[in-house]
Amino acid sequence: MLQYDNEQIIDWMEGVRKHPDMVNAFWPSQINSKNWLCDWVKSYLPSANRIIIFGSWYGVLADMLKIKLPKSQIMCVDKDKEPLLWSARKHAYWHGDMITFEYDTRVDLVINTSTEHMTQWEYDTWYNNIPENTYFIVQGNNHYGEKDHIRSCRNLDEFKELNRIQNCLHGDVLEYEGPWDKINNEPTVLQRYMAIGFKTQHDRKD
Ligand SMILES: C[S@@+](CC[C@H](N)C(=O)[O-])C[C@H]1O[C@@H](n2cnc3c(N)ncnc32)[C@H](O)[C@@H]1O
Repeated sequence: MLQYDNEQIIDWMEGVRKHPDMVNAFWPSQINSKNWLCDWVKSYLPSANRIIIFGSWYGVLADMLKIKLPKSQIMCVDKDKEPLLWSARKHAYWHGDMITFEYDTRVDLVINTSTEHMTQWEYDTWYNNIPENTYFIVQGNNHYGEKDHIRSCRNLDEFKELNRIQNCLHGDVLEYEGPWDKINNEPTVLQRYMAIGFKTQHDRKD
């Protein structure tokens, strides 16, 4: 479990005051899924140093990873300038659509926790661009009810297939509470998926 110091908490609250939408990065499901990812990086890829987070949003995951792996060099990539510039105060950044990103140095790990926000073509383009011999971690979910989710998955197997998880180091499911089901007056239970793959030269698909 991560420990946050006063400075980090004050910084996040300042972000929420300046960018009210940032509060959405602090739903329990958001924090728990990011914490889950940080634990996996620490357990499975502790020597990952150069890390790129695609769809980095307000950089909360970047902040959390930096606490977990203080020596890591993290770059945030997002097409939305407002959240990206907030994260840019503390992390390297690149502004633009992730499918046009050009790798100019070796990276150890790329992360994409926004796979449900991308079309299959966008995902494939992003994936094909990952340099060979690079670890990648992706997350997605089965939350079809959210209008921005255009590529949710029914289960972990489908998630791994759609996201082309080759050489799978680890994959699992985390259940979380979704929006209140007003018809049955009960919480909805949703699933978040995560997998670590290793991209090799044999994985290309056009
Ligand atoms: C709503 S947020 C994060 C949601 C995600 N479920 C998570 O927990 O990380 C999605 C972010 O991905 C960014 N994004 C989506 N598609 C992108 C793309 N093609 N290139 C760059 N950023 C993208 C959006 O601008 C946004 O900041």
